[in-house]
Amino acid sequence: MPVDIRTVERSELPAWQAALEVGFHKSSLAPEHVEPFSEDFAKEVEWTRIQGAHDGGRFVATFRSFATRLTVPGGEVAAGAITNATVSPTHRRRGLLSQMMARDLATAAERGEPVAILIASEWPIYGRYGFGPASDIVTYEIDALSAAFAHGGDGETRLVEPAELAGAAAAIYDAHRRSTPGAIDRSERWWERRVGIDVLRRKPPGTQRCVLALDERGAPAGLLVYHVDENWDDWRPRAKLHVRDLFGTTPAAEARLWRFACEVDLVATVSAEERSVDEPLPWLLRDARAVRQRLKTDFLWARLLDVPAALAARRYLREGELVLEVRDAAGFAAGRFALRGGPDGAQCAPTDAAADVALDVGALSAAYLGGRSLVTLGAAGWAEELRPGGLARADALLRWSVDPWCATMF
Ligand SMILES: CC(C)(COP(=O)(O)OP(=O)(O)OC[C@H]1O[C@@H](n2cnc3c(N)ncnc32)[C@H](O)[C@@H]1OP(=O)(O)O)[C@@H](O)C(=O)NCCC(=O)NCCS
Repeated sequence: MPVDIRTVERSELPAWQAALEVGFHKSSLAPEHVEPFSEDFAKEVEWTRIQGAHDGGRFVATFRSFATRLTVPGGEVAAGAITNATVSPTHRRRGLLSQMMARDLATAAERGEPVAILIASEWPIYGRYGFGPASDIVTYEIDALSAAFAHGGDGETRLVEPAELAGAAAAIYDAHRRSTPGAIDRSERWWERRVGIDVLRRKPPGTQRCVLALDERGAPAGLLVYHVDENWDDWRPRAKLHVRDLFGTTPAAEARLWRFACEVDLVATVSAEERSVDEPLPWLLRDARAVRQRLKTDFLWARLLDVPAALAARRYLREGELVLEVRDAAGFAAGRFALRGGPDGAQCAPTDAAADVALDVGALSAAYLGGRSLVTLGAAGWAEELRPGGLARADALLRWSVDPWCATMF
């Protein structure tokens, strides 16, 4: 019997989750936790956007997407965020992912979502479906014992209970989201789960602490969630503080929280993972070599489904015009498009005019959030110059002043 790919019913969620656990090598939930977890998970499932492949009485593949806002340079677009894509080891490399992806992208395009996004477990999987790596993350490691702050912000900091941080988080995070291409929504529930109020599956580390930075009126202006791994080797305090979340409504509030993290007693190293490539952090220090960037890697992948809508939704640093020839084997984004954009708005429409640059949809999607150099992509064969200076003009138009960063794993 052929494998049956279809949407999943609420009653099937526990069985679907069991397949997800197999795919991602997660421990199975204790039997008494299965139904409570499903009940909770069901609240975030969009039932037309959850797929499963069924064979021999069990799910052998999982796939889901959900609607979110994606910040783009100078604006935002509706995006379909793809997640929970797995195929069981018994059914791998038979085209199940390809079929589920094709269904999801087709319905996203029908729904009018100009962009699909995901976080790739492995680089080689998603290029074939038109995705390109649109933003990176880095790990920062700070030598806390030698980090002296030239610009450490001021104002009070307060240790708070997780519930208080979760309550303040939406407004603080939203300031970050609106100004950072690549950022997506985080609901209040998301924050409750992050700080451990909702602990069905993943408990936060026991040493997790929540901190708010307050502005001069005493209102929350920044948040820090961290935990500490103790280390007493050689009877010397050398603990490592892990920054899980650090956001401020102002640069000064963020600076204050970086300083807070570096000044916690008994801590020798502060480590912050999945952060922006271009944090102000090193520039806050008297000696920027006290902080090192480690592990720079791709994180958010994007896939344009509607080129005119996607390119018109963002802003451009300077007025400019560009004609792009976009190749897309799946058809959604294929065509030749004239883009005219600037700081106040943009238009993009199909055209017959001669193109400046030709590229696959994956390359355009990689550059969409403003963090890639078309010149570099061109040098690597990801884009082709059709008119002299075309790549440099495309580069100048598509780049943005804030590096894209998605701080949210999904
Ligand atoms: C990634 C995964 C979902 C792929 O599922 P699948 O059903 O085997 O994929 P398909 O059969 O549809 O593959 C389509 C093509 O992609 C290729 N491909 C799929 N996964 C790949 C991988 N991990 N690395 C390289 N190529 C891959 C296949 O070889 C095939 O190529 P072809 O068309 O040239 O033959 C599956 O391997 C899996 O569950 N991995 C573990 C969980 C995971 O990492 N999920 C992704 C989360 S982002």
